[in-house]
Amino acid sequence: MELKTLRTPIVAGNWKMNGSLELVASIAEAWQTAASELTDIEVVIFPPAVYLSAAQQAWQATQIKWGGQNLSEYAPGAYTGEIAAPMLQEMACQYVLLGHSERRSIYGETVAQITAKFMCAQAAGLRPILCVGETQEERDKGQTMAVISNQLIPILALGTDFLADVVIAYEPVWAIGTGLTATPEQAQAVHADIRKLVAEHAPNIAPELRILYGGSVKPNNAKELFAMADIDGGLIGGASLNADSFLQICRAAVECKA
Ligand code: PGA
Repeated sequence: MELKTLRTPIVAGNWKMNGSLELVASIAEAWQTAASELTDIEVVIFPPAVYLSAAQQAWQATQIKWGGQNLSEYAPGAYTGEIAAPMLQEMACQYVLLGHSERRSIYGETVAQITAKFMCAQAAGLRPILCVGETQEERDKGQTMAVISNQLIPILALGTDFLADVVIAYEPVWAIGTGLTATPEQAQAVHADIRKLVAEHAPNIAPELRILYGGSVKPNNAKELFAMADIDGGLIGGASLNADSFLQICRAAVECKA
């Protein structure tokens, strides 16, 4: 448990293809009054890219950081509809989400593509939050760690220099947007295995690596998840679309830290 105190928890909000200028403003307003209680945690929000400029203006005086939900694996050029890493950096993003299961399953992103994106993020000074996780069928077949190893090892193979700022989000696909949360024990078991896997490839970063849990985290289950030894915060989808519920989840992270 002592090692956990080395790791500042992160509560990250993934708006996916949701949100509005109104939500950007309501988060800013909620943080004006809550700021003083939310110490010792990092808060990051991933709005759709069109709102990054508004987010920068509204949130820059708060503790909230913002980031991109995705980026292109290419340098700026003729790639209609895409966003390059230096553009996110120009919008003062500190983080970028990579490999979300919706990107993998709906848009067919491959491990090779995600690895290329990871390198672009690092080159632009963006910290990747790399999402990994298994489907229900894979879990039922006992393949959880095999699937996660396939998703992680190509990234770990890039070497320690590339891994210094990485954050991993364990998001069991069966728990995303379904209301079916992994139990704290189920999540902790996988988080511990992920840390062990990272230790095998990059022993020096494993103790300080932050591993977030994602998948139907809500105000009523956040605290029991965040209290687990290898869970260092959460990646929140649905419940990040409401300033009050997101704030309650951030408070849960603060309480677990205290
Ligand atoms: P959820 O989404 O909290 O709505 O399950 C989590 C995610 O996909 O990051």
